[in-house]
Amino acid sequence: MEEMKKGLEGVVALDTKISFIDGIQGILMYRGIKIEDLADLSYDAVSYLLINGNIPNETELLEYSQEIKKNRQINGKQIEVLNEFDFGIEALDGLRTAISCTAHFDLENNHHSPDANKNKSIRLVAKFPTIVAALHRASFGQEPLEPNDELSHGANFLYMLTGKIPTELEAEAMEKDLILSAEHELNPSTFSLRIAASTLSDLYSAVICGLCTLKGPLHGGARKGVMDMLDEVGTIENVQSYVLDKLEKKEKIMGFGHRVYKTYDPRARIYKDVAKRLSIEKQDSSWFDMAEEIERILYHEFVEIRGKSLYPNVDFYSAVVYKYLDIPAELATSIFAIGRVSGWIAHCMEQYADNRVIRPRAHFV
Ligand SMILES: CC(C)(COP(=O)(O)OP(=O)(O)OC[C@H]1O[C@@H](n2cnc3c(N)ncnc32)[C@H](O)[C@@H]1OP(=O)(O)O)[C@@H](O)C(=O)NCCC(=O)NCCS
Repeated sequence: MEEMKKGLEGVVALDTKISFIDGIQGILMYRGIKIEDLADLSYDAVSYLLINGNIPNETELLEYSQEIKKNRQINGKQIEVLNEFDFGIEALDGLRTAISCTAHFDLENNHHSPDANKNKSIRLVAKFPTIVAALHRASFGQEPLEPNDELSHGANFLYMLTGKIPTELEAEAMEKDLILSAEHELNPSTFSLRIAASTLSDLYSAVICGLCTLKGPLHGGARKGVMDMLDEVGTIENVQSYVLDKLEKKEKIMGFGHRVYKTYDPRARIYKDVAKRLSIEKQDSSWFDMAEEIERILYHEFVEIRGKSLYPNVDFYSAVVYKYLDIPAELATSIFAIGRVSGWIAHCMEQYADNRVIRPRAHFV
């Protein structure tokens, strides 16, 4: 029997054309294109790229965006069903249940043809933001808002959440957030979803596996963890004692460290730039300054003193962006999923196209 690798560290489980990470150089590419070059496109273009394999031309993008917009609505009956539950503010539990419910209302749920999968992909990408916004509003007794077809994927989500048309920078921040969250090779949620797909389970079921795995605080839940941390720290003066206390107690600091990146996460740099620009637009640098101070102290503690390669990951400055967008911490993981669903779908399609059931072995002790 082969040597067991705890947490499957360094184990190569499959070939993929969807994304590439160089964790030493800090490089991330979707379909061979660097994340820095993708961050200025629209989410629709990046979603199309991930699922279909190429950057869409003008006609392809127009058609794809129109299809997404046509499918943003959610079924009235579905809203009634969801209102029967009291999810409170546990947004991801609500989203997971809502996707099961969406599957139930999708007549092609258990159809596995490429056309059916394509139709379901569009519906999933289109409905995720509507569901997250509707569930959030319902938790405050508010009615869901109709999607606004004039707005991009990200801007429309912010609009459906708050009822306010976002500023140009807020809209850009949300689009970038969804793009940067869209795909990341064999992260835990994508791996769990590929296992489900490898049994030839349907697309909705696989996506639900992804959601269940994303929920954990060591994965998608870390973004909420960073937002909570910023609230707990409160002011820049408290940063040093807060961080040192955590290190003393050997507690993990959310938003730092990564299984693959042993350098600065390239997505964190882009988020940092957006967070800085938002802090200027909002004329409030407090969240940004606090985060930068956490980063400065932890660089000293982790890298300079302990010699550990622990740097900000995708969740660190994205949490600061969410603070400036007035997004409640409880929504952070669900919003991550709004972006990630395109990557998940791409991985399901890749798995279906060249399938062998994923079934590793365990070492009996
Ligand atoms: C991402 C993460 C799960 C990677 O886990 P991993 O590859 O299994 O790495 P480990 O947890 O084994 O960490 C290796 C070492 O660094 C330390 N470490 C890792 N992340 C740390 C963090 N955020 N804060 C403090 N110490 C950390 C571990 O305690 C361990 O120290 P040790 O060797 O002295 O025992 C881990 O870095 C983490 O929990 N980060 C915080 C949660 C987070 O931000 N998740 C989002 C990931 S995108």
